[in-house]
Amino acid sequence: MEANETNHQLVEGSHPKSSKANESGDNYTITATIKNLGINQIQRHVFICADQTKPICCLKEAGIEAWSYLKKRLKELKLDLPTTDRASCIFRTKANCLRICANGPIMVVYPDGVWYCRVTPDAIERIIRQHLIGNKVVEEYAFLIHPLPEMIEAAIPESEMARQVDSQDDKQSDY
Ligand code: FES
Repeated sequence: MEANETNHQLVEGSHPKSSKANESGDNYTITATIKNLGINQIQRHVFICADQTKPICCLKEAGIEAWSYLKKRLKELKLDLPTTDRASCIFRTKANCLRICANGPIMVVYPDGVWYCRVTPDAIERIIRQHLIGNKVVEEYAFLIHPLPEMIEAAIPESEMARQVDSQDDKQSDY
């Protein structure tokens, strides 16, 4: 399956049609945000400890510098949103603390589950080029590799499971 062909059905009950925000006349729609941010086309999600309430793993300035660099480079390299040439994107999130609290700034890349420490701008540049683009872990900064288990059936609502099975059946019947 290509990165842009991931399952991305909205979970029933979370759709704007059933949200309180919509009932109150708010024009904001989750569907539009999903499209604008390319959320249904995310290939990898990067979390970084930055701008902490209690900076423990690194100086607050170091975390902010790392976060700013990550954001800037993903945008410059056009990795932050899907493009006509590349249908997937890298999503990034600033976390207040990733609970490692040493040797920061700390960064984790999912779904690979690669945890990096001391992510200075130089380290982030290498991680972007070697890992996010080249699919090879930067061992010099990685301190743990723990990919999350495949989607656990128990965590998926029964109605969603039924829809996924239906959609797989539909796909198979297309062949
Ligand atoms: S303060 Fe950075 S991981 Fe906790």
